[in-house]
Amino acid sequence: MNAIAGQRLLVIGGSSGIGLATARRAAAEGAQVTIASRSGERLRSALADLPEGVRAAQLDVLDEAAVERYFDDEAEWDHVVVSGAETPMGAVRVLPLDAAELAMRSKFWGAYFVARAAKIPRHGSLTLVSGILSTRPRPATGLQSAINAALESLGRGLALELAPVRVNTVSPGIIATPLWDAMDPAEREAMYARQTHRLPVGRVGTPEDVAAAILFVSSNGFATGTTVHVDGGGLVAV
Ligand SMILES: NC(=O)c1ccc[n+]([C@@H]2O[C@H](COP(=O)([O-])OP(=O)(O)OC[C@H]3O[C@@H](n4cnc5c(N)ncnc54)[C@H](OP(=O)(O)O)[C@@H]3O)[C@@H](O)[C@H]2O)c1
Repeated sequence: MNAIAGQRLLVIGGSSGIGLATARRAAAEGAQVTIASRSGERLRSALADLPEGVRAAQLDVLDEAAVERYFDDEAEWDHVVVSGAETPMGAVRVLPLDAAELAMRSKFWGAYFVARAAKIPRHGSLTLVSGILSTRPRPATGLQSAINAALESLGRGLALELAPVRVNTVSPGIIATPLWDAMDPAEREAMYARQTHRLPVGRVGTPEDVAAAILFVSSNGFATGTTVHVDGGGLVAV
């Protein structure tokens, strides 16, 4: 039997991109999947794209009290994945401070609130999603680098604090998801083309590439305190 089959899995950020691909794959493998995010409309359109039986919950990880209430009201989750965050990007001297603080609150503190509140049994797991910038900063990404590094560090610490619950982080490189929809389409295509040329694998990532890694760390009972890089070789590329 597949390790994830029959298990209760919550994907926060499951209405789009990496989270949606994780939910789809987990459901295909027989897990009892719930997706959570802020927008009811996004959740409904994701559900239409997922197998029958997948549930949805409206939840904003910025709202600490709502996160606590949600986990109190629900049964234990075998596996929790945090892929939901809103992360405005920009150079330290350009990005308005409120946007910078929102990015940190959403991606770091959101995951922190979930880690505090989630009820996960001894055999279960918590998986966070960081990003390649934690270790390979680019010009004008100091904030994102710091957030992702903090998240990976949090994951390692939680692997000890929450043990025997396993806690891991998956760190994607450039993945083609709706995250980039706000970009000018021509600029986005140019970015994808540059990455395709630069990366050893010769392509940008898909949400499914990352979903496979998330489900690997969720279901492998000997994986904890680790960061799995899924970046097409972005860390070693020139
Ligand atoms: N795509 C990449 O190239 C890439 C690279 C490195 C790291 N990452 C990281 O991977 C994670 C997932 O990114 P993605 O590419 O899958 O993005 P995406 O397609 O934009 O999906 C983001 C998801 O997060 C949810 N979300 C946003 N803010 C939330 C909040 N406050 N509470 C609950 N849910 C929230 C969104 O739904 P609602 O709008 O309904 O809330 C959506 O489901 C992010 O942490 C991102 O930084 C992505």
